[in-house]
Amino acid sequence: MPPTTDVRLSQLVRAQIARPSPIRQIMKMAERQNILAMGLAPEDVISFGGGWVNHQAPDALRRAYAEIVNDEATFHKSGAYTATLGDRDCREQLARFETHVFGVPRLGAEHVAIGAGSTQLTHDVFRTLLDPGDTVMLMDPTYANYEGQLAFAAPDINVVRLRLMDPQTWSYLPRADPDRVIADFHRAFDQHRPRLVLFGAPDNPTSQVLPQSLVEAMRARTETAGAWLAIDFAYKCQFFQTPPAYYGWSPADYPNVIGIHSNSKWGRGLGRRLGWIIAVPQVIEALERVQQCSLLCPDTLAQMAMARYVPAAIGDGSLRRYVDDTNAKYREAARITIAAVDEHLGRPRLEPMGGLYTVVDVGTDADAFVPRALQATGVLVVPGGGFGPSLAHGVRISYGPLVMTPEKITEGISRLGRWLRSSA
Ligand SMILES: Cc1ncc(COP(=O)(O)O)c(C=O)c1O
Repeated sequence: MPPTTDVRLSQLVRAQIARPSPIRQIMKMAERQNILAMGLAPEDVISFGGGWVNHQAPDALRRAYAEIVNDEATFHKSGAYTATLGDRDCREQLARFETHVFGVPRLGAEHVAIGAGSTQLTHDVFRTLLDPGDTVMLMDPTYANYEGQLAFAAPDINVVRLRLMDPQTWSYLPRADPDRVIADFHRAFDQHRPRLVLFGAPDNPTSQVLPQSLVEAMRARTETAGAWLAIDFAYKCQFFQTPPAYYGWSPADYPNVIGIHSNSKWGRGLGRRLGWIIAVPQVIEALERVQQCSLLCPDTLAQMAMARYVPAAIGDGSLRRYVDDTNAKYREAARITIAAVDEHLGRPRLEPMGGLYTVVDVGTDADAFVPRALQATGVLVVPGGGFGPSLAHGVRISYGPLVMTPEKITEGISRLGRWLRSSA
């Protein structure tokens, strides 16, 4: 194969290949051959790197798949295309899911577009809403993939970031000083006039949930300016405190708010690619045009299984129980993680409000710290700089993959602590 510089790739792709996702780079470091090359035993490595969940999917969902696959006629049907926005019945059931779990009112199939996970849908939402030269407001820190996704979805997008972390005090400003962040938001909005404001609830990597007052200010300001507010709800079902009111907002009441939802984290359907957008019908219809060119239709088998599972699991109460039981597992994993960080690292960190992560201040350039820590301890964490400049001295620790093996959480963090003390 010739080197990529010798083949005729697009300028955009060449530019983006030169700027690979920092998280993917780190995860590559943890691949078996690289671990062996470092002289480490792969079975001794403890990885806090992965942004994924590891609990069991609902058994009733597994059975729904089995019923469809075991019956010749339904299996045949699962090989057909559905409508571009997804099967009407499945769209209706996903609307019911949101109403049942989060109390979202007045929601119907017309507010739902199904896609192949939130990654594809976020790309298509960008494509649907943005023009060249537009500005998008992201948080600092936030999910590392948004900038690359913006670059691929729409040319010449300007990104401005709203600073949410104080790296000096390691405090999360929307909690420590919400009025200041609201004032900062208004100032930045007036200066840059973004067409879209996007944040995660809870966010990756901080696992913090923006307070209602800030999100209400964002909603009102974007609405008056004719702009959009998008909320990435990839971790919506992992909440350790009563969720703020905006978890239950409906496009019927707030027409400029777009919810990005995913099957990946709540029911461990990461590889069974399914996600959905909740928005006003005009956005959903526009997405249909975009998806005709990006996806054609979402996975039919996944939609058939979901459309069987949701009404049955709402009916017998098992969906609510499943969400509650899953939450309890991640809340406990978060508690164990924070207790181990406090005991073994004694460094500033954020207490998760949901999600799969905490961020810890390592007090030094994290890009250099992470490979040294892996080499010395066999423990992998993710450097924070890829999530935003405020985390350049921080690392993300994910307890998601270790939720069923909490002893590894304690073991991994205590190894890091021993190394830090011995090298101090
Ligand atoms: C904030 C956030 N959004 C979206 C995704 C991607 O989710 P999906 O599997 O639905 O594409 C992730 C994955 O880690 C994430 O952290």
